[in-house]
Amino acid sequence: MSLLSKVWIIDFGSQYTQLIARRIREMAVFSEIVLPNVTAEDVKKNNVSAVILSGGPSSVYEDNAPVSDENIFELDIPILGICYGLQLISRYFGSRVHSENHREYGSSQVFLEKNHILFDGINLPIKAWMSHGDHVDSIPENFEVLAISENKAPAALAHNSRNIMGLQFHPEVQHTDRGKDILENFLFKIAKLEKNWTSHHFINEAINRIKQTVGRDKVLMALSGGVDSSVMAVLINKAIGDQCVPVFIDNGLLRKNEHNKVIDLLKNKMGLPVEKHDYSDDFLSALKGVTDPEQKRKIIGHEFIKAFEKISKMHPDFKYLAQGTLYPDVIESRSVSGPSHVIKSHHNVGGLPEKMKLKLIEPFDSLFKDEVRKIGKELEINDHVLKRHPFPGPGLGVRILGEITQERIRVLQDADDIFISELYSSGAYNDVWQAFVVLLPVKTVGVMGDQRTYEDVCAIRSVNSSDGMTADWSRLDFELLSRVSNRIVNEVRGINRVVYDITSKPPGTIEWE
Ligand code: XMP
Repeated sequence: MSLLSKVWIIDFGSQYTQLIARRIREMAVFSEIVLPNVTAEDVKKNNVSAVILSGGPSSVYEDNAPVSDENIFELDIPILGICYGLQLISRYFGSRVHSENHREYGSSQVFLEKNHILFDGINLPIKAWMSHGDHVDSIPENFEVLAISENKAPAALAHNSRNIMGLQFHPEVQHTDRGKDILENFLFKIAKLEKNWTSHHFINEAINRIKQTVGRDKVLMALSGGVDSSVMAVLINKAIGDQCVPVFIDNGLLRKNEHNKVIDLLKNKMGLPVEKHDYSDDFLSALKGVTDPEQKRKIIGHEFIKAFEKISKMHPDFKYLAQGTLYPDVIESRSVSGPSHVIKSHHNVGGLPEKMKLKLIEPFDSLFKDEVRKIGKELEINDHVLKRHPFPGPGLGVRILGEITQERIRVLQDADDIFISELYSSGAYNDVWQAFVVLLPVKTVGVMGDQRTYEDVCAIRSVNSSDGMTADWSRLDFELLSRVSNRIVNEVRGINRVVYDITSKPPGTIEWE
């Protein structure tokens, strides 16, 4: 078997570094993100086959700008610099970097200057995503300009005899045309790497890491029954078996029959040692009379922590808490603690580990949802679980506008169940990112038979999205919408009107609260 191809991405702080890693994984090559303090010796010892220098917010001429060990440039391995990475290369090889006039942000055309294997099979000009204040002013000796931007600034450079090159734009972002092909040319035509990194490798690697970290200790994990936590429960079970106890909390805010379905699948059919704890009375009494969305979210988050504290007292020997945190969640929680506005306080079991002195295990914290789905497929998890729509931690609590009562939960569960089962039977379920029903605190007049009715309104929401960060409302078939509306009004006591939400995100959000 050939040696595993391995790419190191040296991270100089770009917001896109994880995206580079993701693109490389998509091309079936193993990559690791490393800090700028790695040395040329580390690169050699770890059998790294190629290095990518990421972008970053600094200018290479700032006093504390991050730099890497320059001996790396003297190793005989292919190196690709992106933005800041290109400027580091240029500086090392003797160029000056210019930082004033031609700042370029956003889309720019990139024109070919000289044919190079990096652009093999790609017809320039292409539209490329720029995000930099510096650009290379004088071309270092032995380098040639491969492409230029609209402003005539060098957009791609390469050494004329060594495999060292750089791009002033970001090939990893979707807004760059053919960016993936440029990266592929670097990996396969220049660095001559092999496609030998698959979900199967990820699983083996994660299992080994979990085994090594945990040893003989015990792990508690929060199982919601959604894609991420279900895949994680199966993965950890493969690694350490019954040393990990998945805990499923019934908070009374789940979809119709959800707790039975989750237990049936993961415990009865898949054999995981799932513990179910019913704290629905605690949640519902804490929410009594509360109508403010943020307050609801805080109460639900707080009740989860209380429930976990109680459960962990039943397992005093547990040392770790496993969470299905994904990379986009990491970005969200970072921005929550930064200067940006808190739009919604996302519920997770954060705050818990410190309080209970549990150490965290987050095997998926560098992955995106579709990658977790692939891993789930490799672990032979049922498609029904893997393709489930995302469901928010606070559950129906943020889909019942106004006060949450047992009766309103029942009404919403029934309406939601009709919508989802109609989506399944029409074949549309897997075409949309997320679909659900929202119960409004509004009553309207209707007529059923010869009777006047005065009952609640519900909204149906279905959105298309690739990551939940932006979304558009789904253009569902009118016949389907009509069936859903008829069935809800006829079958769900308490609702006499159905409306369809046609708001995109932004300016709306996916959930209503
Ligand atoms: P919004 O409503 O912010 O939702 O547009 C974006 C995505 O996140 C889900 N969501 C949550 N997920 N805990 C979660 O785990 C939460 O508190 C939460 N709030 C929203 C939402 O369902 C959508 O997929």
